[in-house]
Amino acid sequence: MTADRHLVIGLSLTATWRKGTRPPDAADKEASQGSAIDFNIRLARMAEKAKLDFVFKPDFSGGGAPKGGAGSGGASAVGLDPMLMLTAVARETAHIGVVTTASTTFNPPYAVARQIQSLNWISNGRAGWNIVTSIEGAENFSDDPMPTPDVRYRRAAEFTEVVRRLWNSHPPAALAGKAQLSPIDHKGEFFAVKGPLGIAGHPAGRIPLFQAGASDIGRDFAATVADAIFGAIPDLAAGIELRSDLRRRAQVKGRAPGDIRVLPGLYFFIADTREEARELHHLGHAHLGRRQRLDSVKSFLGLDVSGLTEDSRVTRDMLPDPDRPVRSRTHADLLRRYITLNEPTVAELLMRPEVVGSAHWVSVGTVDDVIRDIVEWREAGAIDGFIALPGGSWRSMQLFFDELMPRLSDMSLFRKEYEGATLGEHLRIS
Ligand SMILES: Cc1cc2nc3c(=O)[nH]c(=O)nc-3n(C[C@H](O)[C@H](O)[C@H](O)COP(=O)(O)O)c2cc1C
Repeated sequence: MTADRHLVIGLSLTATWRKGTRPPDAADKEASQGSAIDFNIRLARMAEKAKLDFVFKPDFSGGGAPKGGAGSGGASAVGLDPMLMLTAVARETAHIGVVTTASTTFNPPYAVARQIQSLNWISNGRAGWNIVTSIEGAENFSDDPMPTPDVRYRRAAEFTEVVRRLWNSHPPAALAGKAQLSPIDHKGEFFAVKGPLGIAGHPAGRIPLFQAGASDIGRDFAATVADAIFGAIPDLAAGIELRSDLRRRAQVKGRAPGDIRVLPGLYFFIADTREEARELHHLGHAHLGRRQRLDSVKSFLGLDVSGLTEDSRVTRDMLPDPDRPVRSRTHADLLRRYITLNEPTVAELLMRPEVVGSAHWVSVGTVDDVIRDIVEWREAGAIDGFIALPGGSWRSMQLFFDELMPRLSDMSLFRKEYEGATLGEHLRIS
């Protein structure tokens, strides 16, 4: 369990709270002005005032974001490159971590190693890397089709190894002439990289690694390298399963179970009353009609339930062959698991977070209700913290920062002040 540690909390800088059909307010207008960088800096400062561990930017530069997903941001989001956006954020903040996303499928490792180490210097030791293998986007890089998941994860493992070796190839002490630069002379299945890296390591030490993708190979990869996992966790049982499995796998790889922090996206809809919160949640998903929800089930799972009535049950024997290729194994496995355990009606299935929003944990209610959910999940051993995906409205975001976060601190579940200066120190990574 995690009783000796504070929750780890990050904020996703995507416009999740602007999704849906509610009427726009002043904050919506501000968020859609120009490149929206000023607005994102304002959000990062709010997060820093609440002493959050980090701000975080997912990235789907290779293609669109997952359909209707909570991580995908509002339709009118400009979609700045995360590395550049977080560079600007780093210059306007002083304590909060800046976690950027870079795909191992579409980039060369030398370029990623250099960019992230640069972000680390620009932020003075606050950078983190979210490692993704990506679901789509191959058409933007060559005529080759998307590599299979196996190939993508083999490439991710080699890519990450090269990046880490490049970071070590140019130690900070070399700046004072007290250490040598050394080439890495890497030749592997996917990459040939001589090194050393042209930029020195930052004295803050190791750059924290995040990972997203929780299929069997994805989990093994995370257990080998990740300090934290950005998890798609739609319900408590899925969280307990994922966290205990990752802790077990980390031990098999010779690490301590607590070395890997499980951080689901928490898609919250907070309001002053439960009724208002429910209405916000409803409006947040009302733009997704029946047809889109059915398409989503079909694209994630390969299962067509369009011929069934709303109250027909979807049963486990209807599930297609588990080895059939799917867009995301993580999302397919979550839906399979839900159907196998619950045999839901079509209406129930079409309400699920896996169908309407990237499979993230959804919490709807007053500040008290959402705190109750967070405490329950933590006590059950399902989470080490979360990545906040604000939903619903600007008011929901304000209630999160002005009321919920101070309450978590008062309950000793979260820090009151920053004790360290770097992301590694915030996450207690040695
Ligand atoms: C919660 C979550 C967030 C993700 N975020 C991104 C992202 O920002 N950019 C991206 O290209 N892929 C993202 N992915 C896709 C994963 O990197 C991975 O390619 C995908 O989940 C397939 O791997 P799997 O078979 O292990 O699920 C995300 C996946 C999950 C589960």
